[in-house]
Amino acid sequence: MTNHSFSSRDLSVLWHPCTQMKDHETFPIIPIKKGQGVWLEDFDGNRYLDAISSWWVNLFGHANPTINAALKDQLDTLEHVIFAGFTHESAIKLAEKLVEVTPEGLNRCFYADNGSTAVEIALKMSFHYWRNLNQSPGQLQKTKFITLENSYHGETLGALAVGNVPLYKETYAPLLMDVITVPGPDCYYRESGESWAEYSFRRFELMESTLRDHAETVCAVIIEPLVQCAGNMRMYDPVYLKLLREACDKYQVHLIADEIAVGFGRTGTLFACEQAAITPDFMCLSKGLTGGYLPLSAVLTTDEIYQAFYDDYQKQTAFLHSHSYTGNALACRAGLATIEIFQQHNIIEKNKQLADIMARAAARFHDHPHVAEVRQTGMIVAIEMVKNKHTREPYPWQERRGLRVYQYALSKGVLLRPLGNVIYFMPPYIITEDELQLMAEVAWQGIQLAVRD
Ligand SMILES: Cc1ncc(COP(=O)(O)O)c(C=O)c1O
Repeated sequence: MTNHSFSSRDLSVLWHPCTQMKDHETFPIIPIKKGQGVWLEDFDGNRYLDAISSWWVNLFGHANPTINAALKDQLDTLEHVIFAGFTHESAIKLAEKLVEVTPEGLNRCFYADNGSTAVEIALKMSFHYWRNLNQSPGQLQKTKFITLENSYHGETLGALAVGNVPLYKETYAPLLMDVITVPGPDCYYRESGESWAEYSFRRFELMESTLRDHAETVCAVIIEPLVQCAGNMRMYDPVYLKLLREACDKYQVHLIADEIAVGFGRTGTLFACEQAAITPDFMCLSKGLTGGYLPLSAVLTTDEIYQAFYDDYQKQTAFLHSHSYTGNALACRAGLATIEIFQQHNIIEKNKQLADIMARAAARFHDHPHVAEVRQTGMIVAIEMVKNKHTREPYPWQERRGLRVYQYALSKGVLLRPLGNVIYFMPPYIITEDELQLMAEVAWQGIQLAVRD
């Protein structure tokens, strides 16, 4: 079997995510035969360094021996069981671990099966909490959500509504609930000489005034802590989270931390919220939760919120939300193995060295004549490619310069998948220094090629 035979079969029956399928008339889809560590291999024997962790999910490499062994064991014991009225060991152990490792006070775990559904659950739980407090529908005031400009929370209609990236949202606007969108703390826009902390602090005023004006009608503020990943890897300072927690408390509004992309070590700490020493009312987790193996998500919340749903059945306060694969046993076991790797191998500490190496590998991009900014938070590095370095004028999106980088990098055996014209590195944590250097070198050459005309 070759790449060609699989790609033609694929293109005759499949429809791929986030893809204009017509693009594949001019560049091939790549059938992957196997994965090992940071490497993927296709059917023609070409290898690709997975520099973006297969859409930010893979933490410890493909075919990781520890996760593989755990899954094989789970497979012979229990693959899945209905999760209402029944439970199982891996779901319990994983929930115990999540309660242990997430910020203090998050004591309840509700499972779902992907990031978007975790966001839907957090939104519904927040709304429903306030509803349960005011049993009379006439008193119901809190029905809205506050979100940040440039945010992304997934593709299902609720998650899309609280997101703000026009590329994904605009088409579906007539279907989406109204939200209150606040200009964000994205430090790309800070003044020269202004620090991230100063800018994020200054920008919080817009959030504070929105909360002051709308708190009575608002259930929750939803944010991606520290890095707006799908929003071009834009970053901000932890001070914003600290101020937001205080303001949410002051105005009696929930705080939903969507750590689906940034959780599990991506920002340098196990969870981004730790850097502001805050506990959100809801924390959404997915992606790295299973080490990139299986679809699973979890919404962690507090006892206080849980208690608002806990009553006699006749009171009709229960959270009657479910998915068929809630608490899937294989996925939970992969999650458990993933957290064990973090704990047994001191990953967060070791990643500090890796983050330093990433910073050094990316240093040369600062002076590139078509790079406006190189930014980094922990294990995420982003390089913003622009037409004019001084005015920061972007390349027109129609020119698809990032795609040129993508295609060049693939031809050199590196899987980079730029967001528009932003090239970023978000590799699995088992990447070596040599592999990091290769990734950076190929990105450099790719940018050189992409800006040639
Ligand atoms: C911050 C954030 N929230 C939610 C999602 C949606 O997750 P999923 O693609 O698993 O639905 C993503 C996906 O990239 C994300 O980055």
